[in-house]
Formats: sequence, structure tokens, C-alpha cells
Amino acid sequence: MMKKIGLFCVTLALFAGLAGAQENKSGIQAILNHYAARNFTTGAVSQEDLDQILLAGIRSPSANNRQPWLFTVVRSPALARQIVSNNEEGNVLIVISAEGGTSAQILDCALAAQSIYLAAQALGYGSRIYTGPINSINQSLKTQLGLPAGHNAIVLVRVGRVRGNVDAQTAASARAAVNTKVQYK
Ligand SMILES: Cc1cc2nc3c(=O)[nH]c(=O)nc-3n(C[C@H](O)[C@H](O)[C@H](O)COP(=O)(O)O)c2cc1C
Repeated sequence: MMKKIGLFCVTLALFAGLAGAQENKSGIQAILNHYAARNFTTGAVSQEDLDQILLAGIRSPSANNRQPWLFTVVRSPALARQIVSNNEEGNVLIVISAEGGTSAQILDCALAAQSIYLAAQALGYGSRIYTGPINSINQSLKTQLGLPAGHNAIVLVRVGRVRGNVDAQTAASARAAVNTKVQYK
């Protein structure tokens, strides 16, 4: 009997170890295999997934843990299309703003954008970071977006369904060779 219990415990520990290794692998895969989606299509982002994606933003690191960001989720198709003209029905825009816009705040918001971008792809959505529309948001859409006084939009992330025939290997642009971007001293 004791032998059987011992064997059961060892098997359980092995499975737990394997499950842990699998989790690590999926984390690194999500980081290495992303691409900036251009193949967005229509279809909803579920509230449950959106909550997880936003939590990834909330959990981002920031200088002195100031968490300067506000995440404004744009679901209105008309408003979303004013910001990104080819936005598809169901795509969500997450506009990240902060009061002011110091370089530390920009860095914090950029990290939050990256977390959101990767979380969306880890959940099977397409995502893309945009700064192109930021000037026009700050010039004319702050009120419509309900940004608090003093806030400036810094970056936005588009999240949505993508056509399934594209992956990071075929879609991502080439990156420079590691030995041209890394040095050891
Ligand atoms: C800070 C930043 C700003 C970006 N702004 C835009 C943008 O305004 N419009 C756009 O289409 N893509 C934008 N992108 C997406 C980049 O063009 C894309 O991430 C890059 O070309 C790599 O694409 P890939 O992962 O598909 O190879 C931006 C990305 C970053 C990180």
C-alpha cells in the first residue's frame, strides 16, 4: 500500500513538473512568435479575454510603480474607425494615456502596450501597436474618448480576430541577426 502511495506521489510530481515546463515554454513562445497583425477580420473579442488582456496591461512594471496609465477601450465601430480607418467590426482599440507625457511615462505606457500586445496573441487574437494616430487623437478626439483633464494619449493597441492562414513565420518582417544587435564584454 505504502509503495502504491509512493508511486502515485512520484507520478503526480512528474506531471506537475511537466505542466510547469509546458507553461514556461508557452510563455517564451508567445514572446518569440508574435507578429504585428495586418490580417484583421470581423468578429468579437470576448469580455473574458479582454479582461485578461487588460489585466496584462495593469500588471506591467512602471517606474517607481507609479502606474501612470489609463486604458480606454474603444468598442464603438464609428469611433474606432475615426482612429484607425480600416478597423474591422469587433476589433477593439485600447488607447493608453497618461497625465502629462514625460519620458518615464512614455516608457511605462510602452511596456503596458507590449504586455497587452503579447497577451492578446497568447490568447489567439491578432494585435498591433500604433502610434501613428496619436497626434490626431490628442488634437481632436480627447473629449470623445473621455480622457481625463491633462491626459495625453501615448500609444494604442488594436486587438481582434485574424484570418487563420498567417503565422509569425510567414507574417513577421525579418529581424536583424542576433550578432549585429548583441554584444558581450
Ligand atoms: C512604437 C510602435 C509604433 C507603431 N506604430 C504603428 C502605426 O502607427 N501603424 C502601423 O501600421 N503599425 C505600427 N506599428 C507596428 C510596426 O510597424 C510593427 O510592429 C513592425 O513593423 C514589426 O512588424 P512584424 O512583427 O509584423 O514584423 C508600431 C509598432 C511600434 C512598436
